[in-house]
Amino acid sequence: MPRSGIRYGGDYNPEQWPEEVWADDVALMAEAGVDLVTVAVFAWSELQGGPGRELEGGWLDRVLDLLDQAGVRVDLATATASPPPWLAASHPEILPVTAAGVRLSPGGRQHYCPSSPVYREAAVDLVERMARRYGGHPALELWHIGNEFGCHVPACYCDVSAAAFRAWLQDRYGDIDELNRAWGTAFWSQRYRSFDEVLPPRIAPTFPNPAQRLDYRRFSNDELLACYQAEKAVLRELTPEVPVTTNLMGLFRPVDGWRWAAEMDVVSVDRYPDPADPNAHIGAALVADLTRSLAGPRPWYLMEQAPGAVNWRPINAAKSRGQYRRWSLQAVARGADAILQFQWRASAAGAEKFHSAMVPHAGTDTHLWREVVALGADLVRLAPVAGRPVPAEVAVLLDWESWWGLELDSHPSAEVRQVALLLELYTPLFEAGFVVDVAHPAADLSAYALVVIPALYSVGDGTAANIDGYVRRGGVAVVTYFSAVVDTADRIQLGGYPAPWREMLGLAVEEFAPMPAGTTDRLTGVLAAATSSARRWEERIQLRGAEALLSLASGPLEGGAAVTVHDHGLGAAYYMATSPDPATTAEVLAHAASRAGVSPAARVPSGVEVVQRGDHLFLINHAEDMRQVDIGEAEREDLLAGGRHSGVANLGPGEVLVLGAVEVPPGPDAPTPPR
Ligand code: GAL
Ligand code: ZN
Repeated sequence: MPRSGIRYGGDYNPEQWPEEVWADDVALMAEAGVDLVTVAVFAWSELQGGPGRELEGGWLDRVLDLLDQAGVRVDLATATASPPPWLAASHPEILPVTAAGVRLSPGGRQHYCPSSPVYREAAVDLVERMARRYGGHPALELWHIGNEFGCHVPACYCDVSAAAFRAWLQDRYGDIDELNRAWGTAFWSQRYRSFDEVLPPRIAPTFPNPAQRLDYRRFSNDELLACYQAEKAVLRELTPEVPVTTNLMGLFRPVDGWRWAAEMDVVSVDRYPDPADPNAHIGAALVADLTRSLAGPRPWYLMEQAPGAVNWRPINAAKSRGQYRRWSLQAVARGADAILQFQWRASAAGAEKFHSAMVPHAGTDTHLWREVVALGADLVRLAPVAGRPVPAEVAVLLDWESWWGLELDSHPSAEVRQVALLLELYTPLFEAGFVVDVAHPAADLSAYALVVIPALYSVGDGTAANIDGYVRRGGVAVVTYFSAVVDTADRIQLGGYPAPWREMLGLAVEEFAPMPAGTTDRLTGVLAAATSSARRWEERIQLRGAEALLSLASGPLEGGAAVTVHDHGLGAAYYMATSPDPATTAEVLAHAASRAGVSPAARVPSGVEVVQRGDHLFLINHAEDMRQVDIGEAEREDLLAGGRHSGVANLGPGEVLVLGAVEVPPGPDAPTPPR
């Protein structure tokens, strides 16, 4: 059984250190309050000396025993993420090939073709040995399958992959004419006479067939998932009682979070916001919200973050004072039940030796170590929050398959990017204090009062009807441009965009008019301020019942609608035919939120993040000066600093306040509580 409370720890790679260091490690773990570590993620070459060989696991036995004696539980990796040199040397065909035909070399990590039967067999053999040897170890709490699937090699274009793709297509389409129809191969003389002629979308003289590319993204996601599933099947068979996870990467395009999360008992994410980016905490909040949403009722863990700097940006900023604590507590506020770091002890050698860690090169008489220890103590105080839900009345929709289509080439504008648009709409909601779920467009949306739909480029009939039905039954939707433009095979839905939602939106789009980068047009209308402007995209729109809240006041489409609203059934559908400036975008969303009748947990000044988790209210001051928040008259316990607050709470620069449940003072004739 997992322990209660918020778990704390990180990736522990003792194989990089002489055994004398291990005792020091567990002593320091106790000092920091570490109770969960991820072990053996990149240890394959230390564990197995050749194909099918017995584990050389003596060192790992001793590590697990030591951790167990110290009361530290283990998220044990299957160790399959980086094949050892002997595997690539004897089977170079496992090495992945790029779209340009370049075979990648070993020497880094993740150098395997996801479709390679040789790799999969070797991985499954290793997992079986790991499960047999460690499945009953008392320190084992969780299995960590692979690591960041697809991170470096999201797709392989080798001949083995080509053959697997053909089999996948045969399965999907049955016969070649179906494929020809779905891919629109009458265009540019691409009609296939047999599946044998089909290739991966390798580099071609010009744009490869977009439907072929889309299917390759689906196929590649499936192949990576099949690697995960093959390992999981072994673990389920040998250790059915041990939960499994793997670390997702948040808004990482190649891997469909919905499909992957469905395969996990604990949903994990790695999150590396850039300390140098003043808005990084907003993107970080979105990743936390996404992971919570992917997990649904299951727990989610922050599996990796850096206590300080990373090593893989051109310039790797250190975290400022308190940033590690703030960002960690933000994840707890948004539902995380574990705060784990990459990594425990900073490596002395290798490509990540300049990546920060909980135990820095300089040792424990350091600012960073003191922050690590202090956070451990904070997490103990936050134990009452563990497992508690984070309610949300607002959702943004995200569908990976639509995202894959959205970002193919030869589109009206290369500037329409899924994550950027998502963040543009999430940011004003975050700043207003709304907690936002991320939902799949085919999900039951009835729990949400407001649903925001950023560039949902492709929709199938069921999905289109789901959203239409949501609005008819009283929901409020905000749909942006370049939504519902194609079906799931990337074929245009004809008759005026967005064909399935013309009735819902009360309009039809005749023509897209993307704007040159950096240019703006003026906006006027009931939601406009003097400075309101349109950016990135405009459209020639026929209004068919919708009311324009903003119209273009300059440019080639002057006078045309830019943001509209339309009553539909019991609800309302907003349409954003442009990306307004941030303040105007916030106005549009505020209008929609008030129409939906939703308001945030507390009114907060700028720079303060507010989240309600269970009975607890989290207030995080990301600003560099004091902020004040009215928390109401009732007294509330301060979980972190102790004491109580009521009325106006002062939040110093960077400070975090976690308030307990509102305490209702007993009235004059309140009954004496039973004893
Ligand atoms: C992650 C990876 C870790 C480590 C970390 C560095 O992508 O899972 O093993 O490389 O990045 O930031
Ligand atoms: Zn391949």
